[in-house]
Amino acid sequence: MTSLQRAKGEYNTWFGSGGPKGLSARLLFGPFGLWLASTPLVRLPEELHLDSTMVHLDIGCGAGALVKHLNSRVGATLPSVGVDLSHNALRLADSDDNTNRYVEASGTNLPFATNTFSLVTAGYVIKHLDDPDLLLLFSEIHRVLAPGGLMVVWEFGPSSSKLLNRWNSGVLSRYVSPPCLRPINTLIDVAKNSGFEYVDNARLRPFLLPPIPRVSMIGGKPPDGYVMPENTSSLKN
Ligand SMILES: C[S@@+](CC[C@H](N)C(=O)[O-])C[C@H]1O[C@@H](n2cnc3c(N)ncnc32)[C@H](O)[C@@H]1O
Repeated sequence: MTSLQRAKGEYNTWFGSGGPKGLSARLLFGPFGLWLASTPLVRLPEELHLDSTMVHLDIGCGAGALVKHLNSRVGATLPSVGVDLSHNALRLADSDDNTNRYVEASGTNLPFATNTFSLVTAGYVIKHLDDPDLLLLFSEIHRVLAPGGLMVVWEFGPSSSKLLNRWNSGVLSRYVSPPCLRPINTLIDVAKNSGFEYVDNARLRPFLLPPIPRVSMIGGKPPDGYVMPENTSSLKN
């Protein structure tokens, strides 16, 4: 079984469960979870000066909390799109949303044309990907981003203590397989290898809960005709 098949099965079971397990999925991945676990993303419209022309894709959208939040906050004229491996997550996302579109697909193989989206986000997805799939994911994000578009990716990160890392992995793998927690520099290197000319540590803060470190990055595809300076450090002088 591949890691993608495993993640799909685990999230389908989690989102499709009844009782406390199903309730935890609806809480953690709904609007309440957006504020608690992805706190700085709530202000993304202000931070990135998003406006109604935004064309947003959220990869690993879960119950669609970020898709719905951003689309209504900026008054987007076009529907936003959420993709997820789990049809049970997408059913939940779609159940109270007449505006946006939800598509069952993997972020590593997106069913969208090149240069489609002005903003691509992916929250808490990449811990489920092995190294080859991580490279594929960033390549796909780069492909579907329109010139001048931005990518924002965030995930749980490693901490400096082995003991804490084991504890955090245990917390994060209650219902799914143990995560792969990568440092920000690794993520930046992979994104650069997948074609991103501009990518940086986004240092998003604060994340309220759970008390586990986060890594976040921002990347962009330059507008058509723009030439990136070879050595940006010379611009500081
Ligand atoms: C931890 S949940 C996060 C959901 C949402 N981003 C949030 O923050 O509420 C991870 C989601 O990513 C989805 N996922 C995992 N691997 C994926 C992949 N390769 N492509 C698309 N979705 C994926 C899972 O099905 C799950 O819904």
